[in-house]
Amino acid sequence: MALNIAVVNQVLKRSQEYSIRQAVIEDLAQISAIENNTSSYPCSYQQLHDCIESTYLLIGDNRLLGFAVIVMVEKQAELHTIAIEPQKQGKGLGSLFLTAIVAGLPTAVEQFYLEVRVSNYRAIRLYHQLGFNKIAERKDYYRDGLGREDAIVMAKQCKL
Ligand SMILES: CC(C)(COP(=O)(O)OP(=O)(O)OC[C@H]1O[C@@H](n2cnc3c(N)ncnc32)[C@H](O)[C@@H]1OP(=O)(O)O)[C@@H](O)C(=O)NCCC(=O)NCCS
Repeated sequence: MALNIAVVNQVLKRSQEYSIRQAVIEDLAQISAIENNTSSYPCSYQQLHDCIESTYLLIGDNRLLGFAVIVMVEKQAELHTIAIEPQKQGKGLGSLFLTAIVAGLPTAVEQFYLEVRVSNYRAIRLYHQLGFNKIAERKDYYRDGLGREDAIVMAKQCKL
């Protein structure tokens, strides 16, 4: 299953500077650079490589501004990660990107899930604004220095 790119780009049309496309292997170096610049525990190059067919890119100014990894299986979609390059954060791009992704989910998808660190207030606020609600917590789910950090599981109903 894949995002409906035509629908996604229809949503972006109002801001004509941006577009979304599926990633290809040649994009990996740039995806990896954004991952390393935005995550304290970045995915390895190999992990990003293995997810390439589930990776979508936000393009603007003729370059990569962000990426998201979305796995879709039957009625469920899961956002594995979303990142906007540091200099472009806080300008509404994460919100625009995720709004367009939600619009482009295949019609069969009924629930959209994600997991986020309890300390990632910025991402949690964004997800709340886009209609995700907390449905569970996973104790000690993430590595955090020498310790562990809990995850919040959030879900958005795509179909009523
Ligand atoms: C999380 C992330 C994708 C959000 O993208 P963004 O482009 O910075 O977010 P936006 O500018 O669209 O802001 C959307 C909402 O996020 C929240 N937000 C954004 N910047 C914020 C800040 N500096 N402080 C607090 N909240 C903030 C706000 O709720 C904002 O809505 P508002 O402008 O109405 O207040 C981005 O910050 C990022 O790449 N972070 C690092 C990677 C990461 O943590 N990914 C999530 C892993 S689950």
